[in-house]
Amino acid sequence: MKSPKASKRLMEMLNQAIAREIQVSVQYIWQHVQCTGVKGFAVRDVFKKFAIVEMKHAEEIAERLVYLGGTPTTKPEPIRVGNTLKEMIQIDKKDEEGAIAMYRKIIELAREEGDEVTKQLFMGILADEEEHHDTFTGLLEDL
Ligand SMILES: [Fe+2]
Ligand SMILES: [Fe+2]
Repeated sequence: MKSPKASKRLMEMLNQAIAREIQVSVQYIWQHVQCTGVKGFAVRDVFKKFAIVEMKHAEEIAERLVYLGGTPTTKPEPIRVGNTLKEMIQIDKKDEEGAIAMYRKIIELAREEGDEVTKQLFMGILADEEEHHDTFTGLLEDL
């Protein structure tokens, strides 16, 4: 075993982030295949596009965690697909809000620990999550 390059707390937070990313990746792709109706037809490609972005986030965070000396979790946070399109997007908007709050904390902690690379990684991911949140917020206005 290599000795870890980050605090236990930061590595735990990276694993919580991975669990979230796996969750929303599966959640969005299942919403992509399950959403129905004319509005669902208009939105389904957004779910797929975001699902792929979330899986890439999981990969990037896992790569960083392995570099730091940790082991990435394979367990997602609970996946909630929702029954109607509106319900789906309401759930997703909340999940993006949770991710934004958490990633801000990770950026803060990485900064405190002088870990510039983890900080930069999460600044990029945070920008994606803000874009997702903005998109879901806009879509909800029409539902
Ligand atoms: Fe993400
Ligand atoms: Fe996202």
